[in-house]
Amino acid sequence: MGEHTFLSGDSTWWRQAVIYQIYPRSFSDANGDGIGDLRGIINKLDYLKGLHIDGVWLSPFYPSELADGGYDVADYRNVDPRIGTLEEFDEMVEKFHAAGIRIFIDIVPNHSSDQHVWFQEALKSPKGSAARARYLFFDGLGENGELPPSDLNSHFGPNGWTRITEPDGTPGQWYMHLFAKEQPDFNWDNQEVRDDFLYTLRFWSDRGVDGFRIDVAHALAKDLSGKMPGYREWGPESIALDGSDPIFDRNEVHEIYKTWRKVFNEYDPPRVAVAESGAPAARRPLYASAEELGQAFNFDLMSANWNRKDYKKIIARNLKASKSDGSSSTWVLSNHDTIRHTARYGLPKDTNWDAWYVGGFKPAVNYQKGFARARGAIMLMLALPGSTYIYQGEELGLPEVLDIPLDQIQDPSFLRNPGKGRSRDGCRVPLPWSLTGSSFGFGSGGAHLPQPADWGSYSVEAQDHTTWSFLNLYREALWRRRQLQTSEDLKWVKSSKKLLHFARPNGWHSVTNFSDKPVKLPKGEVLQTSAPLVNGKLGAYSTAWLFIHP
Ligand code: NOJ
Repeated sequence: MGEHTFLSGDSTWWRQAVIYQIYPRSFSDANGDGIGDLRGIINKLDYLKGLHIDGVWLSPFYPSELADGGYDVADYRNVDPRIGTLEEFDEMVEKFHAAGIRIFIDIVPNHSSDQHVWFQEALKSPKGSAARARYLFFDGLGENGELPPSDLNSHFGPNGWTRITEPDGTPGQWYMHLFAKEQPDFNWDNQEVRDDFLYTLRFWSDRGVDGFRIDVAHALAKDLSGKMPGYREWGPESIALDGSDPIFDRNEVHEIYKTWRKVFNEYDPPRVAVAESGAPAARRPLYASAEELGQAFNFDLMSANWNRKDYKKIIARNLKASKSDGSSSTWVLSNHDTIRHTARYGLPKDTNWDAWYVGGFKPAVNYQKGFARARGAIMLMLALPGSTYIYQGEELGLPEVLDIPLDQIQDPSFLRNPGKGRSRDGCRVPLPWSLTGSSFGFGSGGAHLPQPADWGSYSVEAQDHTTWSFLNLYREALWRRRQLQTSEDLKWVKSSKKLLHFARPNGWHSVTNFSDKPVKLPKGEVLQTSAPLVNGKLGAYSTAWLFIHP
């Protein structure tokens, strides 16, 4: 490991940072094997700099058999050889830091890959061994242990238990997996597991990583000493509010993050973290507190309808919550797990987009509406106090890819639920960089998920010099936000029922027209709009930023 440039100084840099999520396998492929890589990311540094972001978050790039797009980690302290090397990782950190861009990486502590050395060792070791104790192995029910310990379902359905074959060839114990069977859950009562993650956090922090996104942060600690938990609905509603659920958001999980915080604070500036937690909103402040991870994702805008009232409620609630825990809010419109918001906003009213099945239920998307709302939404979101997460490709206004042939789908949440599962592959299709050419500039060897024929029209090349392109809207708004971002206060401004209007203390106003007709703008200096004004009025679904003397 060479010397690194550390971005030091301000320890509050994260509070209002814009973080761009890179899904490495689908970003840019420099070696032409169809899979994006670190060299591809390094090659796009100028592009990222031109977006005026503060940091990038890399989804998992670790060695993995890709049973869940890399969220099945076989080695937490290495780079998948298809994606690069540790030397390239160091080079990336060095170059990004020199350009003023911070690096977040994903930590996946609830489960490993079944290819992880520890799980392989557990399979070869006898029942009751120290190697088995790092995971959640149990005897089955029934006369010969042929039935799973309970009817627990996995997040990817249908079962949350898989039976192993013992080293002597006989059918053996069962292990718990809240996700795919290739993702065995760790036993967080095990000290070796705890120590190993502290070691991993230091390993990457020493390499200059600035922050960590913590996967399924609420599931680590489990209490399986009583009746074995069985079938359950997934979601915050099903979780006890007092930390007593046997699987999720137990009080003990918060003790774990307190030990992580000690590690973060060993560094200057302290490393930061954001929880991806499905815990009930009322418990989010625990994860977000300065004693634990410091921030917790609020995905509320990601699931909100295009509705003024809902937006206002969500914003007010989250700003209040983050004030109470000393954190700052996180805003998200899209990520690698959900339908792209250009499509979401173009669905017929009240469509349950979460039940969008590839190969099944496919409502028609009105993209004209979807694009206009997506443009309005990003400007609204960027004007909010707090940090913002942008998912790769949303700056190009990418649509959701709906026609991936069923035999090319990679997502276990689809594959494990025949006929029912929702595929997340439609938002993970490799990015288009050029109008034409092999995989539209993604790489010389094709793309690991099929790109639609018109993908080039969304490419960076197509949008680079086009006025009113999505890309230039993002570039300009992000640049402007950097100049305008101010203290974390927000004040609602009384307005017509069609508009959502708020102001920041320095006179920066954001006005969004939630209706489908142009609306008169309040008086002020127009700084930027998400679409051209219509006879001087704010067009349907559009946002304007104004300066009004405070
Ligand atoms: C959340 C991640 O965002 C998702 O992609 C993954 O499938 C699950 N956690 C399991 O790791």
